[in-house]
Amino acid sequence: MTITGVWVGLLLCGGVPDAAVAPTRFSTAAVVSQSRIASRVGAEILEHGGNAVDAAVATAFALAVTHPSAGNIGGGGFAVVFQPDRPATTFDFREKAPSASRSDMFLGKDGAYDPNRHHWSHLSVGVPGTVAGLHALHRRLGHVPWRRLVDPAVRLARKGFPVSAGLATSLEAMIPVFRRHPATLAQFTRDGQPLRQGDRLAQPALADTLALIRDLGRDGFYLGRTAKLIVEEMQRGGGVITLDDLRAYEPVEREPVRGTYRGYDIISIPPPSSGGVALVEMLNILDGVDLASLGLRSAAETHWLIEAMRRAYADRARYLGDTDFVAVPVDRLMSAAYAAELRRTIRPDRASTSDRRRFDWPHESDETTHLCVVDRHRMAVSLTTTLEQSYGSRIIVPGAGFLLNNEMGDFNPKAGMTTDGGLIGTSPNLVAPGKRMLSSMTPTIVTRDGRPVLIIGSPGGRTIINTVLEVIVNFVDHGMPIQGAIDLPRFHHQWLPDTVVAERSCFSPDTRSLLEALGHKIRIRRGTQGSAMGIAILPGGDIEAGVDRRLPDGGAAGY
Ligand code: DON
Repeated sequence: MTITGVWVGLLLCGGVPDAAVAPTRFSTAAVVSQSRIASRVGAEILEHGGNAVDAAVATAFALAVTHPSAGNIGGGGFAVVFQPDRPATTFDFREKAPSASRSDMFLGKDGAYDPNRHHWSHLSVGVPGTVAGLHALHRRLGHVPWRRLVDPAVRLARKGFPVSAGLATSLEAMIPVFRRHPATLAQFTRDGQPLRQGDRLAQPALADTLALIRDLGRDGFYLGRTAKLIVEEMQRGGGVITLDDLRAYEPVEREPVRGTYRGYDIISIPPPSSGGVALVEMLNILDGVDLASLGLRSAAETHWLIEAMRRAYADRARYLGDTDFVAVPVDRLMSAAYAAELRRTIRPDRASTSDRRRFDWPHESDETTHLCVVDRHRMAVSLTTTLEQSYGSRIIVPGAGFLLNNEMGDFNPKAGMTTDGGLIGTSPNLVAPGKRMLSSMTPTIVTRDGRPVLIIGSPGGRTIINTVLEVIVNFVDHGMPIQGAIDLPRFHHQWLPDTVVAERSCFSPDTRSLLEALGHKIRIRRGTQGSAMGIAILPGGDIEAGVDRRLPDGGAAGY
């Protein structure tokens, strides 16, 4: 048994209590993710010679087992990699529209938009990118043999792991939905009855698929048995993904988008995510304002952030889409001159209004997960991955044990169709064969003088970009430690609806009154916004991990 084997063996025997609270300060290397078990898998790789990419790959595979609502092999994502001695790079493993996609595929027979086809049918499934993306990351930049990175996930799926309180609650809440998909119900319940905290969740079919990936690399997913099982499920359910679509899927290594903010360098994700461009646009606007002197969460500071959000989200709706298909004025949107132009349109004493006649807002989605790694050489990875909604399409491929995404829901539904109910009909993000749907995922690395100081990202659909923005402002402008920067309650504005949606304790009553007096409409969100995971590297070199406690089970591991 390898050292990894011994360690995972210990875990599988229950040797590490599920509820252990990991330390958040490390001297050498660390991983943070939404699953303490997955973070420990990654930390183990780091401790035994792996670099940040190796650990990110191992953690991502483990998340596909231990955090099934968002960790995945049937979805997609993005990663930003910082290398101490080479330029930073990014990997786009976003899902793609199958080649048989048509512009009217989300319309019913009567020509009317059908949200079920868009979000909850086999047509909502994009060609998955995760396995090819993790494989490409590893081939380009990893050191440890591939098998060692996938094997811990195989073991966790084969032998099972203790179900946490959070996972038990999540799975039980989903049972009525899972009943529509027998393979999903069978995998996540005991004969239809809820699993309880401490029960073991073994996923043998998933273990078989992961073993193929471990032994054959990407071919274990995109060719042979797994591909055949995916296509059979598509044919049973009216989906259109073919063997050719799977065989042809390729992730793309892309140049990061870059910005600067108060002397820090921002390295983030380019289209087909809107995250990096919108983040840099907002930071550029805010760079011209002394937020620190306005005061943390003061009405004046919040007003500037809201107005920056409003403008960047309007541009997101108007311009952003897959740059392999549409021209996006990325350089202009991220230029200082454009930010200065926008800043001049912001009045400090009055809220702007969003123009409803031009666009509206797309559907909110809600399940994704972020992980961060830094290794002993200060190579760093910021990786966000998603199935789109919680448990994706909820469709498990029978015999293959993994959930399929419903990422096609991130395309705009129908050209020109903009409604008060939340649809948007602008052209850059309309579906086309082979196109990637627009994302908001914002894996980001902030550096200073060529060294990483903050690695950050979050789930949360459209709110992701604002969550990352707020953590950066808290950290950079207000000097908050990473945990405090993550804990601070959040707010979100996305141009339309013209409303600030805030977490319950975000604004004091007097701050809220001041914002309302400026003309902002404020609504308190029922739940929470995002689940940011972050790592800060302190000036002395120590590593501090920040774990979002809004969702259960997150944790850091390292040494
Ligand atoms: O790519 C996107 O922006 C969305 N599909 C992400 C979904 C998401 O973050 C849901 N998370 N909580």
